[in-house]
Amino acid sequence: MENEEQNIITLIMAAGKGTRMKSNKSKLVQKIYDKELVKRVVELAEKIGSSEIITVVGYLREQIEAVLGDRVQYAFQEELLGTGHAVMQAERFLKGKKGKVVILYGDVPIIRPETLKNLINKSITAKEYATVLTAVYENPTGYGRIVRDEGGSIKAIVEEKDATPEEKEIKEINSGIYCFDIEALVEAIHEITPNNAQGEYYLTDVIRIMNDKGLKTGAMIVEDNTEILGVNDRIQLELLTKVLRTRINTMHMRNGVTIEDSNTTYIHDDVVIGMDTVIHPNTTIKGDVVIGENCEIGPNAYIREGCRIADNVKVGNFVELKKTTVDSGTKVPHFIYLGDCEVGKNTNIGCGTITCNYDGVNKNKTLIGDNCFIGSNVNLVAPVKIGNNSKIAAGSTITEDVPEDSLGIARQRQINKKGYYKK
Ligand code: UD1
Ligand code: MG
Repeated sequence: MENEEQNIITLIMAAGKGTRMKSNKSKLVQKIYDKELVKRVVELAEKIGSSEIITVVGYLREQIEAVLGDRVQYAFQEELLGTGHAVMQAERFLKGKKGKVVILYGDVPIIRPETLKNLINKSITAKEYATVLTAVYENPTGYGRIVRDEGGSIKAIVEEKDATPEEKEIKEINSGIYCFDIEALVEAIHEITPNNAQGEYYLTDVIRIMNDKGLKTGAMIVEDNTEILGVNDRIQLELLTKVLRTRINTMHMRNGVTIEDSNTTYIHDDVVIGMDTVIHPNTTIKGDVVIGENCEIGPNAYIREGCRIADNVKVGNFVELKKTTVDSGTKVPHFIYLGDCEVGKNTNIGCGTITCNYDGVNKNKTLIGDNCFIGSNVNLVAPVKIGNNSKIAAGSTITEDVPEDSLGIARQRQINKKGYYKK
């Protein structure tokens, strides 16, 4: 069965405090590669085709709502009485509906959408009322453990604080991510009681409750156990950023991009890079950026939002580009800032050239044609246009348009005062 045939609702748990972040901000609005953790989770929910996304908020809810707006619906959990209690707060969104509900955490932001699609598919094809995403960790401390029977079926999830010494030895853990049958979950949550070491309503109890009712439950082990890592402090924030960085860089290398040093190359989500392009070290490419084939980028290049770079372009060292289009064969080799700029084909931008694109109020455009030669240390005061086949003399501050096939020169003539130091 295809996912499309099933109604999928996603519920995101985001009421927790996150005190270990040591921050005035909600943990869920901390960022990885410029994007809030909770926003990443919402995008994940969108990618799996959720018909509705419900976010359970509590602590600093206004910060989360400011980021997500009306992209999701909100349930409010006033007191943090456990993950089962969090689901109870969202009951009105689930009651009377059919299909599957996927549970995600707002602070577990780097799961692959394919993993969730596989989880949903397994729950549909195996006809399970609950399917738990699990992982195997050498050190499972802190996680709920997956207790299976002799036949290998999941019997229950036991929290660390409630576990027997034998159960603590289990290395298969609960990720906290599940796919439930909506109606079965709504029924089961009313049977959860806080009779446990933490006095909390555990969502995990639903597995045992469903098993007792004879409703089939199951588990799916995630192959790459870094996907289900969560963020509790700034150290984990860095760790997840590294995991994501490696994943993105590996994807580009598999697609034919050379990355000389993945450890110092920061390519944010959604960047497109063509085959045979080489990325030198210490390069950051962020935002919505498309780079063509056979380009050379870096070292120490900074390519920001809205850039379009065609094939066979060189963007060299200490070059920053923002909302800039560079056509094929053009060289932007060193110490250059181009912002809000369009550059044609086979043009050379000299060392030290900058666009003066911001007048303090507005951002203005600079247009540079094909086959141009911009000398070193040129200031292009926008709005300004340089026609095709034109040259700009080094050291010029260009404030007026330069027509085609022309030389633009805007600098003081040099005066040599002979014998000046002999006087
Ligand atoms: C939970 C699971 C545990 C699993 C672990 C994975 C339960 C009882 N235990 O542990 O089996 O291994 O996740 O990380 O479910 N939250 C709320 N409201 C609450 C409580 C939590 O919104 O009342 C949110 C938190 O903000 C967080 C998520 O739910 O995003 C998980 O809560 P957390 O306390 O980190 O997980 P545990 O209960 O320790
Ligand atoms: Mg807890």
